[in-house]
Amino acid sequence: MVFGDLKLLVKEKIAKEIERGILKVTKQKIVSLHEPSFDKNDLENVADCIKSTYVSSFGKYILNFEKKISKITKSKYVVCTTNGTSALHLALVVAGVKENDEVLIPSLTFVATSNAIKYAAAIPHFVEVETSNLGIDPVKLEQYLKENTFKKKHKTINKNTGNIISALMPVHLFGHPSRIIELKKIAKKYNLILIEDAAEGLGSFLNSKHIGTFSKMGILSFNGNKIITTGGGGAILTNNKKLALKARYLSTTAKKNHSYKFIHTELGFNYRMPNINAALGCSQIKKLDNYLKRKRLLTKKYFTVFKDSKYFEFYIEPKNSKSNYWFQTIILKRKYKSHKNYILKYLNKKGISCRSAWSTLHKLSFCKNLPRMNLSVTEDLHDRIINIPSSPNLV
Ligand SMILES: Cc1ncc(COP(=O)(O)O)c(C=O)c1O
Repeated sequence: MVFGDLKLLVKEKIAKEIERGILKVTKQKIVSLHEPSFDKNDLENVADCIKSTYVSSFGKYILNFEKKISKITKSKYVVCTTNGTSALHLALVVAGVKENDEVLIPSLTFVATSNAIKYAAAIPHFVEVETSNLGIDPVKLEQYLKENTFKKKHKTINKNTGNIISALMPVHLFGHPSRIIELKKIAKKYNLILIEDAAEGLGSFLNSKHIGTFSKMGILSFNGNKIITTGGGGAILTNNKKLALKARYLSTTAKKNHSYKFIHTELGFNYRMPNINAALGCSQIKKLDNYLKRKRLLTKKYFTVFKDSKYFEFYIEPKNSKSNYWFQTIILKRKYKSHKNYILKYLNKKGISCRSAWSTLHKLSFCKNLPRMNLSVTEDLHDRIINIPSSPNLV
């Protein structure tokens, strides 16, 4: 009984320490996790687009928005899409991932990463992440590939399933750059197509290079919860003209340019970002620098209040990187991980919106029989991560 009371006390202590820290930093009573903010310019741009009547997949704002993303990321080509999930799907198709190919991804990611692979009729194959950057662990990945694959006609074959492993799709979790340079070397050695899921990473850099641009293709998301938003939206980044043209063509139902005939040359998709969403993007993107600065300030303030906690660590960007700090993150010390759900319930009840990392994908009912390596670090991290309020407008 006494021992039980003590446990309750620790749970409460941790929850209250986090509550106090967040309230001290944000000076707000009700705090959302990550909310978009809009101003007069956003309203004017959207109104202008409506007046033009070009609200769908054609119009000046789409090309303009793509140019702006290209300037920030230094990606030669940018193809805007309806959302990040469709960008991932399209990138997989265009890059040549085929039916029944396996695509290596982390399990600690949003379900869209794996869904997009399934939409391409390919098979998600889950690999382990590391604690230092929350992305795929290159050392474990290489060892795993060495032990579990063989080469046949330049292709990497999974010894256990007989399938071709054709691609590697790292995720830059919460906007923090993963070890993409090491992963790129492995992709080259094993002849894997490298596609970066940088959905959360607009404004994040590794060695001064924007994430999503280290590979054949990368993708971004502009969903309402991202650092800037187009309502719904995504983009493919690539330096390869052929791939960019193909992606753009397929995103507009593979329709040939013709003033009155409908000629579709192959199976395409209705994945092009509507002009009305791009109009919002064009005004939102002007605020990116300001949001990035504010998010770093928020990190600094959280770090000051949380750095001495004996219950958890406040997560700081990996070495050599400049993260956009999309989601601010607390990682409970192992000893206290059983308290995570209590802490989340407590904080949310108080009006402070905090959340757990997504369900690890290998545990989802429709993914649990998919190929995977040992995922003990993934599971351990999942049990310890708490995302806390992260909106740029909190400071
Ligand atoms: C890692 C990751 N991949 C893909 C996506 C999909 O993006 P969207 O929601 O724009 O489809 C998200 C969105 O949250 C994401 O976090």
